[in-house]
Amino acid sequence: MTITKQDELDGLKEIGRIVANTMLAMSKSLEPGMTTRELDEIGKALLEREGALSAPQSSYHFPGTTCISVNEEIAHGIPGDRVIAQGDLVNIDVSASKNGYFADTGSTFRVTPVAPALDTLCRDGRRAMQIGIEQVGNSRPLSGIGNAIGRFASDRGYTLIRNLASHGVGRSLHEYPEEIATWPTRGEKRRINKGLVLTIEPFLSTGGHWATDGNDGWTLYSEPHAPTVQYEHTIVATDRGAIIVTLPS
Ligand code: CO
Ligand code: CO
Repeated sequence: MTITKQDELDGLKEIGRIVANTMLAMSKSLEPGMTTRELDEIGKALLEREGALSAPQSSYHFPGTTCISVNEEIAHGIPGDRVIAQGDLVNIDVSASKNGYFADTGSTFRVTPVAPALDTLCRDGRRAMQIGIEQVGNSRPLSGIGNAIGRFASDRGYTLIRNLASHGVGRSLHEYPEEIATWPTRGEKRRINKGLVLTIEPFLSTGGHWATDGNDGWTLYSEPHAPTVQYEHTIVATDRGAIIVTLPS
């Protein structure tokens, strides 16, 4: 969506705060021995308390409230019986709607102790997202996001998953301008308009290039298998850069 009025920004900020607080609470509960279903139940209770609806569930009939992806799973993991262990990388992605506004946020968390290389990957994954956010503003090229993230990744020897894109969001979970590359592209001539609501969510990896399907219809894996992290905010383009709406408060 494109924000043109203050009440639209207020509505988006409300659901942005809800998904951010939900993800934060889930991350604080994360501990070895719990199942991903138990972690999802925490998110479910918080969204219900706030009167928010899980977006993957309401939009796509996803069999869970939040997406929880562990280690070799990189996105759209279904909460279930999997037991979280020390050393795991756990991605929690929370998207939800309230009063017709949608927001989407995600982060990869470490279940300590983890290998130092994974600490660095997580730190750099967050930086990759921030670099993408810095490219967003009124009338700036959409391709600037992926080009900047691509430079950062290749300078440090990382790869980017090239078929999991960022996207427009706001009145639905995925909308105009549809797929936004977080990797270098050619031929993308579109520009960002003032008020545009979008996500920035690069998938930074130590060797993965593509996301491939497993056999449950949802869970995505990196191809080739390699540790992969994702950090995601929902943002609004303005004349003076981006407003991040998925911050906890
Ligand atoms: Co997401
Ligand atoms: Co998203």
